[in-house]
Amino acid sequence: MKYIFGNWKMNNTSVEVKDFIKSFKPPKEDAVFGIAVPFPYIKEMQKKLGKKAQIGAQNVSFAESGAYTGEISAKMLADCGASFCLVGHSERRQIFGETNEWCREKVKALQSRNIMPVLCIGETLQENEQKKTKSVLKSQLKIGLSKADFSKKIIIAYEPVWAIGTGKTPTKKEVDQTISYIKEYINKEFKQNLKVLYGGSVKASNAKELLSGDIVDGALIGGASLKVNEFLEIAKSAKEKI
Ligand code: PGA
Repeated sequence: MKYIFGNWKMNNTSVEVKDFIKSFKPPKEDAVFGIAVPFPYIKEMQKKLGKKAQIGAQNVSFAESGAYTGEISAKMLADCGASFCLVGHSERRQIFGETNEWCREKVKALQSRNIMPVLCIGETLQENEQKKTKSVLKSQLKIGLSKADFSKKIIIAYEPVWAIGTGKTPTKKEVDQTISYIKEYINKEFKQNLKVLYGGSVKASNAKELLSGDIVDGALIGGASLKVNEFLEIAKSAKEKI
């Protein structure tokens, strides 16, 4: 079964949240669902949809508590019922200057509260054009996972930065090759087999192809996860063989 995880980013209001909750009716066997929502909606989403989907956050503080104005700790996320949290999404890395070292601490903080980290990695267009994709992914993984506790669950999301919100995607062959590389690297460096999702302009129209086969374990979906029907459609098509 594929992991179909949504990332709402900084979108939706309480009216839209209520509508989403009302219309989210996935058949049980379609996918393992997760939705990373803005902090204020975690509790309500967890209460209303917690049996149908894992509800998570999009960011967490690396610190445990104290004088960190504006930050939210892993303990607070656990308090609100978050079961997973994105770490190092490219928007956080690019706009807010998050480093691999911060990601490493965030992974540790989340796991200490039994919240599953979804570590996001990916190369920029320039890095891709300069054929640096593998070395970028390698350092994101090497540092980001260096304090991970592999006895607890952790997932990787491969999201080429140039594919996020642009409508562009790598070819299916490229996605499979890069995700195979990520899995091999994690296996070699950490002796682990982790699930790896693909993210970047996944829609109902391309999900079936992008998610086919056994290499890609699921998708992290931004824009298309805001529309409940499209989100469910992606899960349905990911289930079908091509
Ligand atoms: P997108 O975003 O599906 O809108 O491209 C993916 C993401 O940012 O996780």
